Amino acid sequence: MNQQKIPVQVSRVKQLSPNIKMFEFIAQDTQLSTFSAGSHVTVHMDEAGIRRAYSLISDPQQPQHYRISVLRDEQSKGGSAYMHENVAEGDLLHLSPADNFFPLVHDNTSKHILVAGGIGITPFLSYLYELEQADMEFELHYCFRDGANAAYVDELRERIGNRLHVYDNAQDQHLSVEQLVAQQGKNTHLYVCGPQPLIDAVIESGNALLGKERVHFENFGEVASGGSSFEVHFQRSGFSLEIGEDSSILQAIENDKRIDIECLCRNGVCGTCETTILEGEADHRDHYLDDEERAAQKTMMLCVSRAKGSRLVLDL
Ligand code: FES
Repeated sequence: MNQQKIPVQVSRVKQLSPNIKMFEFIAQDTQLSTFSAGSHVTVHMDEAGIRRAYSLISDPQQPQHYRISVLRDEQSKGGSAYMHENVAEGDLLHLSPADNFFPLVHDNTSKHILVAGGIGITPFLSYLYELEQADMEFELHYCFRDGANAAYVDELRERIGNRLHVYDNAQDQHLSVEQLVAQQGKNTHLYVCGPQPLIDAVIESGNALLGKERVHFENFGEVASGGSSFEVHFQRSGFSLEIGEDSSILQAIENDKRIDIECLCRNGVCGTCETTILEGEADHRDHYLDDEERAAQKTMMLCVSRAKGSRLVLDL
């Protein structure tokens, strides 16, 4: 990851819903840079020795401040809990420079369909600035499980009107990805951010009906699938799982359901799923640890990294 750190001050904190807070940062001694829509920054919570990546939700062309939105995960003992409990207006923090693995395709001749699940709405909040500024045709389809995650509905309704389509699962409103994609013309770009099943559904329908080059999801390069299968033993929980060639450790844990794992990017960038290695060596595939940390083999990212050998023991 980029080792540069930008000193910032927290200029505003706003509770958007019971479990989502917005944080605004202003630069301390240098200016913040413009960024491209879909970019994220890493927030360094130095006191706690934690860093986490969050999508920038503010206007990419107005870098007098950066804004992020943080979902508090109830299981969290790390980043999201620290941000919610300890970070207040006036605090000083450091950010890594903005980086983008999920850019908007600047194509005025195409329609752009954005599909967001829960907190996956965040990268699209900066997309909207670019889409509107470039006068591109778009729709935003926003799915969430309960009202608490619907932090942006009112603001979005006001901002983009009937280009917003809301699916509140608690009210039995469900998005049919297949139907949505089937209704689109061939000149559509499809973007998705949210939980893995939603991403998988969009990729499957999108690839089949529009072609791979028109389907976009946060792609951080190397991914978890690919490689030999191996066993992971969860020391504190007292059981093991076999991780298949095409599964990540995170997916295997989620399918098994005995352990709750906090995760955000699912792509080895944010650091949320960092876990202590007790035995074995990881095949690191993340973009979070630096070379020294990788070589130390003390922790690994469960969403993307695999085992070098046939077995890992983790502190879970
Ligand atoms: S969920 Fe972000 S690094 Fe694993």
